Amino acid sequence: MSLSFTTLRTAFKAYWIIILGISMLLIIVAAGVLVSTSSDNETLTSQSANYDEDVVVLTSQDDDKEEAAQDSSSQEVVEEEPTSQTTPAPEPSTSGMLSVLTLVNKRIAISPLSYSPSNLTSPDVTKRSGAVIDARAAQSLEEMFAAAKDDGHSLMLSNAFRSYTTQQTLYNNYVARDGQAAADTYSARPGHSEHQTGLAADIIVPSGTCSLEACFGDLPEGKWLAENSYKYGFIIRYTKTNKAEAGYTYEPWHIRYIGVSDATAYHESNASSLESYLGKPAAPDYL
Ligand code: DAL
Ligand code: ZN
Repeated sequence: MSLSFTTLRTAFKAYWIIILGISMLLIIVAAGVLVSTSSDNETLTSQSANYDEDVVVLTSQDDDKEEAAQDSSSQEVVEEEPTSQTTPAPEPSTSGMLSVLTLVNKRIAISPLSYSPSNLTSPDVTKRSGAVIDARAAQSLEEMFAAAKDDGHSLMLSNAFRSYTTQQTLYNNYVARDGQAAADTYSARPGHSEHQTGLAADIIVPSGTCSLEACFGDLPEGKWLAENSYKYGFIIRYTKTNKAEAGYTYEPWHIRYIGVSDATAYHESNASSLESYLGKPAAPDYL
């Protein structure tokens, strides 16, 4: 009887040890699940914060024109330090990049809509903070600015690449300010701006005179740009006379890089628009 009582007491102890062990196991598993859920939430939160950054930066301005839309994504471009003195800097990757002759207008959206050149670079010219451009156009831009200087003209780069979301915010601000019909005459809808190719640039003068206004075309600098930019691979994309083809009012400050040989052929053929030069339909309006 006393032996049987001892056996029962031992069995009872073992029972509680097993229950305790299982409980601890369950607590450890539950803690693991909680930690993994909370790190997923952090990832989502930081993605939202990055997305909002563009919007916050841009909604703080709505009176300025395109110059105010410096793309916050340009801050993502990191100048790489050479890893060793004997290793040459890598060439910018151009895989998956759009051709310099890519046409983007009211009829043709950029593809993919999320396109962003992989070789954005900060050109060595007088510029607004954060202005970046496709590396294929950067050297020509630098040479053009130097040539303008030699001829006594100071140019300044206002902005070049703009992301889809930057353009979206910019366009929405213009629509809110002037209404959609008016905004469509001077600002591209998101996905339809050449600036997203990284191959378009807005040129101003450092004093800010006629900045992003038609009167820029009457300044000595605007005239110089119209007469000489083709030598460096650029064309004036939106002229006084090509709205029915290119879709926008006169923008003597907006240049588009297409490469020196095509810009020279464009100039020599007196082409009226990039649409007609490429044998593509006019794009006066959205479809
Ligand atoms: N201002 C030009 C048309 C653009 O928004 O791309
Ligand atoms: Zn422009």
